[in-house]
Amino acid sequence: MTILQRSKIVVIGAGNVGEAIGYTLMLRRQASEIVLVDLNEDRAMGSALDIAHGTAFFRQAKIRKGGYDECADAEIIIITAGIARKPGQTRLDLAKTNVSIIKSITKNIMEYAENPMIIVVSNPVDIMTYVVQKESGLPSERVIGTGTALDTARFRYFISDKCNVDVCDVNAFILGEHGDSQVAIWSRATIGGNSVESFMAESGQKLDMEEIFERARDSGAEVISLKGATFYGIAMTVSRIVEAITDDENAVLPVAHVLGEEFEDWSDVAISMPCVLNREGIAKTVRIPMSIREQEAMDASTRKLKDFLREVLE
Ligand code: LAC
Repeated sequence: MTILQRSKIVVIGAGNVGEAIGYTLMLRRQASEIVLVDLNEDRAMGSALDIAHGTAFFRQAKIRKGGYDECADAEIIIITAGIARKPGQTRLDLAKTNVSIIKSITKNIMEYAENPMIIVVSNPVDIMTYVVQKESGLPSERVIGTGTALDTARFRYFISDKCNVDVCDVNAFILGEHGDSQVAIWSRATIGGNSVESFMAESGQKLDMEEIFERARDSGAEVISLKGATFYGIAMTVSRIVEAITDDENAVLPVAHVLGEEFEDWSDVAISMPCVLNREGIAKTVRIPMSIREQEAMDASTRKLKDFLREVLE
């Protein structure tokens, strides 16, 4: 599709993350119209102007500040608003504050949008994705949380760095909670069709799998401690999810959504699994085979999220 046929995308929240998402969508020519919505209208206006000023060097696309009425004809709505995590704070600490913010945002969106596609970024993203899906009444496949997509990207990055291969040739997933109970699915991690372990053994190298997993899992906190917030990695993650939807790709990405009853103990909670994404949202949730230990860790991650949901929503 040319840029003129591109879609209209509304970003709720023009803080560091929302602004970086708007900038990335513009650079990658993913929308013909980008609208930034924020309670702080000056912030939304300033971010939109700052990005718009650079469009003279790129094909024209409109970016502006707007209100919730812009959701009426948006192809995708991205929710980034909420209190940002502070150094030393876990994502789940944030939940109680952000649940009430997300509920009012969802109500405002549904006043104008009939059947929107919503990407949830606000943390704790698994809890927020669940709340948006329940409050909106939208089918689960149209409420997509960024979940462990960024954790998976970090995991692949550190594996590629250790194994000295292109990150795009590493196929590996982190699933479950976007948080401390996330699960590295090492049993299915491959490079060029070979298991990561065999790939490394062939080159006579030992892989410290625990170190790689912990580095990926703790990367958000690491970057926050170094520069106060993360926003570029998550913006690139959102851009990839948007691309899979607008380009009707049927791409497999690890995103969060509320799992159906066919997932038994993992049902009725938003948790990350590999999903096939296209114009309709989540077309299929992939039942990736796991080791017993990985399944047990996913069970623990799901239980943790369910317990927290009860605590936060009661
Ligand atoms: C991070 C935020 C998106 O992990 O939770 O950087």
